[in-house]
Amino acid sequence: MPAMTTANISVWRTLPTSRFLLGAPHYPEHVDESYWQRDAERMAAAGFNTTRLGEFAWHIFEPEEGRFDFDLFDRAIAVLAAAGIDTIMCTPTATPPRWLTAKYPEVLRTNAHGETMRHGTRQQADTTSPVYREHSRRITTAMAAHYRDTKGIIGWQTDNELNTSTSDAYGAAALKEFQAWLAGRYSSIDKLNFAWGGDFWATKYDSFGQVVFPVDLTPSYPSPGHVQDYHRFLAFATARFQHDQVEILRAANPNWFITHNLGNLRDIDFRGEFSADLDFLGFDFYPLLNDEFQRLGSPQLGHALHADMARGLTGNFIVPEQQSGFGSQPGFHTMTPEPGEMRRMAMSSVARGADGLMFFRWRPAHFGAEIYWMGIIDHDDVPRRRYDEAKRFATEIAAIKDKILGTHVRIDVGIAHADFDNQEAHKTYSLGLPSPEQEVLHLYRYCYENGIACGFLHPEDDLTPLKAYYVPHWVMWQDAWTAHLEAFAKAGGTVIFGARTGSRDTNNHVIRETQPGRSISALAGVTVEDFGLLAAPGASGLFNPPARGEAESARRKYHFTLGNKQVEAGHWWEQVIPANGTDVLACWSDRFLDGEAAITSRQVGAGRVIYMGTYLTRELTENFFAEVFASARIEPLLPDLPAGVEVTMRENASRHLLFIQNTNAEPVSVAGIPAGRDLLRGASVAGTLALQSYGCAVIEVGAT
Ligand code: GAL
Repeated sequence: MPAMTTANISVWRTLPTSRFLLGAPHYPEHVDESYWQRDAERMAAAGFNTTRLGEFAWHIFEPEEGRFDFDLFDRAIAVLAAAGIDTIMCTPTATPPRWLTAKYPEVLRTNAHGETMRHGTRQQADTTSPVYREHSRRITTAMAAHYRDTKGIIGWQTDNELNTSTSDAYGAAALKEFQAWLAGRYSSIDKLNFAWGGDFWATKYDSFGQVVFPVDLTPSYPSPGHVQDYHRFLAFATARFQHDQVEILRAANPNWFITHNLGNLRDIDFRGEFSADLDFLGFDFYPLLNDEFQRLGSPQLGHALHADMARGLTGNFIVPEQQSGFGSQPGFHTMTPEPGEMRRMAMSSVARGADGLMFFRWRPAHFGAEIYWMGIIDHDDVPRRRYDEAKRFATEIAAIKDKILGTHVRIDVGIAHADFDNQEAHKTYSLGLPSPEQEVLHLYRYCYENGIACGFLHPEDDLTPLKAYYVPHWVMWQDAWTAHLEAFAKAGGTVIFGARTGSRDTNNHVIRETQPGRSISALAGVTVEDFGLLAAPGASGLFNPPARGEAESARRKYHFTLGNKQVEAGHWWEQVIPANGTDVLACWSDRFLDGEAAITSRQVGAGRVIYMGTYLTRELTENFFAEVFASARIEPLLPDLPAGVEVTMRENASRHLLFIQNTNAEPVSVAGIPAGRDLLRGASVAGTLALQSYGCAVIEVGAT
């Protein structure tokens, strides 16, 4: 079954290169020039081949409006090139110089409360602003012309982590852009009024020029259609801002690759122009950030999740910034990787699709808002354990890069992901429910802990290699996707729809048919008679944690019977009516729902379609998916995976590479290893593998 679209964006895409980029972002402008030669030599001795320069140096490239000075970077690039280190150059538009924000203050972002952002931090300029776009084109044109033939520059990074700090655009100029975008989208104000529901609370407009920004609690809530379109506009404007730069760079030198480093994935539509404009995407990984650790309870699970989600957006990727040491800005910080952990984290990125990786950063800064963000070299210019680990990693990867490049990461269990409209539609009206991205953590964790090959991909992607595909409550479902899933099921696949899928249309209206509506009802063989909210497991009432001394009996609990077990439902219930020929896998078992269907299954060709009239909880996932996976013949990549050991498979038609990482500080022994060759140790293996603290193995299955 082919992919539905010809878009060059697919989870199966590998990087078209025979070179594995290895290195570190570097800021030669932060140190005295007397360090440069030694820095370049040390990079080369570590096995690095690439650095990334210039993303915050607009003030150096253009010290006064219209006067350009490339001297400092020309010298730095030449010193690096002479040592064999190539450069990824960046457009410096994340940090406009002070003369620009002083002379053109209208480029500064305004937040939803009307406050203007300040100079002195970063991302303070509004990428929707026509004036800022003009300056962005100017500096990009000047840099592209200057560096067109520069030896050592192999490609470009646009800006830096677009929208990571904020995507807020609520100023007067942004409003005009929003109105113009709406006029282009709807062509008549009547169509906009229909889409947003202008007869609700008299929100009807007479012209596009009257349209305002949607802002929650001013004093009440705007229409979900209005909010959805605001975020679609921001995604459009972000892609347009990048596109301005891409056009200029491509015209200057078509041999350069162009990439972007993504951080917070805010208001960026990856399946649209944003990715299509780039040769490949980059994702920055800081697995030991404290807030992530607190949210997921496990930094390695968070890292794996982010890397797999990143790959689902784009296919294989590079990591322009991989955490090396301790890091901090005044308001947040990371934990410190223990000896061996930096290499292990980098290997985990490669195991999940990185085809290039740079450690952030070469040296730490002695001034500015990141003075404690450590690098490969320490503040006192001494290379210590991070240098040794970076060198070990670079040497190992350079030796096996030809095995790694050209392979994709195997997926047996796919999770629907990477759809901007669905991601945003949830946020416009969440009902207090977990987002699709939060909810799938249960299924993802189950697969991660059990060594099951799990990944994320859009329903338009090629689903053929999968055995099962889970759709987590995508309210803005498109009928064309159903036909694709039906073909997957007919060929033997298992499709699992979460509750509420397809319940809203592209205007963000609730559909007018019986839910789940549209084509899903026919494919899954169900309708939904009634629905309601539930507390999250462990909470009482609807949303609140149990009050002190509150009687447990005061809590409304709903259970269903799954096989011979009683499982407590969380978040949501649906009274599911199965059509003739649809089997009931779980029934509600208390209160007024007693005996009604909760989870169903319908045979479709050689496969089946499951409908879950509830949300995943840990308990439901653990009880349900063992059976689903067994009947779909999904087996772990390794049996009896010890706790804290990660396994993935990178493969293509000619080779299968088992990546195994020990995320524990203690050594482990891993059983069930297939016969093959451990490429890192250069030795044959079979049966049992001993891994040191934070140890890694890459086993080519079947090789001797
Ligand atoms: C990234 C950013 C870098 C640096 C790093 C450490 O998000 O791209 O410039 O700030 O985090 O904070």
